[in-house]
Amino acid sequence: MNTRLRQWLANQKVTSRFHPSWILIAVGASLAIGLLMWLLSESVFRHERPSPAVSVLPASTQRLPASEQQLSPPANDSALPAAEIIRTVRLGRAIFTDTQTYAKAYVGNGLNCVNCHLDAGRKPDSAPLWAAYGLFPMFRDKNHKVNTYEDRLAGCFRFSMNGRAPAYGSKEFVALMSYSYWLASGAPLGTELAGRGYPKLPPPQQEPDLVRGKQIFDTQCAICHGADGQGTRVGTRYAFPPLWGPHSFNAGAGMTQIKNAAGFIKANMPLGQGNTLSDQQAWDVAKYMTSQPRPADPRLGRP
Ligand code: HEC
Ligand code: HEC
Repeated sequence: MNTRLRQWLANQKVTSRFHPSWILIAVGASLAIGLLMWLLSESVFRHERPSPAVSVLPASTQRLPASEQQLSPPANDSALPAAEIIRTVRLGRAIFTDTQTYAKAYVGNGLNCVNCHLDAGRKPDSAPLWAAYGLFPMFRDKNHKVNTYEDRLAGCFRFSMNGRAPAYGSKEFVALMSYSYWLASGAPLGTELAGRGYPKLPPPQQEPDLVRGKQIFDTQCAICHGADGQGTRVGTRYAFPPLWGPHSFNAGAGMTQIKNAAGFIKANMPLGQGNTLSDQQAWDVAKYMTSQPRPADPRLGRP
């Protein structure tokens, strides 16, 4: 024991009801109880804390912020700035899942963003937005320049949606960026996260084949996407989106590249039965789909 402490102890009056070392024991005990309580609360309440949207865990274990509560506006007006961002995030989600309604002026086909970015842009291996947001600005070979996130969104409007991009800074772009930002909260910047983009399949063992591809299409895909691949409408809307033809993505879209199509199909199609096709089947049906007619690449006609 150090000498000052010993002196202090010696100076304390020892009575039948009080001994100075009791103070030390009491302090020690409270510290121990405090530590115990803290450990307990850590283990019990940890799972209730908001966790980062994504981590570098394998895609299947990633926890995505999905719940409605997180998106509902605060009840009182004192939280207006918060309400405004929530409204904007919600608009972004609406545009993403129902582009036909909320960004109608910019769409030139029958698709919605969510058709190729499943589960409102959250599903791993389906080019999820939470994995994309933190990777921009990024150099892209497609246009040989550093692309901002808005540039990337513009690309999907122009090619995948066969339309034209909203103005930079427009309410549509701000909303889509806000939604992506919200999905990506907690995710690291500049890191290629598991589940980003579409999976890269190993090269096909046999040359992808149109005849085998058509067979797979007829037996596994036509039931939803239509025997002619042009989708299935209910009223004026597509219940099942067109894979080719005038209302599908155009020839400049990423989905026309067989490697993107094969990866997307392997992981996500037939809907609800992802990863049931073999890699070869995914390559074959992707070959068949990407060989079909569709709107021209706008970079060729209208520069
Ligand atoms: C026809 C399918 C299709 C549609 C519809 C579509 N996209 Fe995409 N999108 C793609 C493909 C293919 C990629 C490239 C994926 C890759 O690089 O692995 C992509 C990539 C992206 C990326 C970048 C992903 C990353 O990880 O780099 C964003 C952001 C994006 N799309 C947003 C949108 C938005 C917003 C819409 C609607 C306006 C939309 N997409 C509609 C097919 C589509
Ligand atoms: C049970 C119905 C169903 C089956 C079967 C099915 N799909 Fe789909 N597919 C969908 C739906 C619905 C979407 C849009 C998903 C969304 O919006 O969440 C979709 C989206 C797609 C897309 C992206 C959007 C587009 O229009 O290009 C492609 C490509 C695709 N499917 C290919 C296929 C292929 C190839 C097969 C067969 C191997 C197949 N699908 C089987 C229902 C189905």
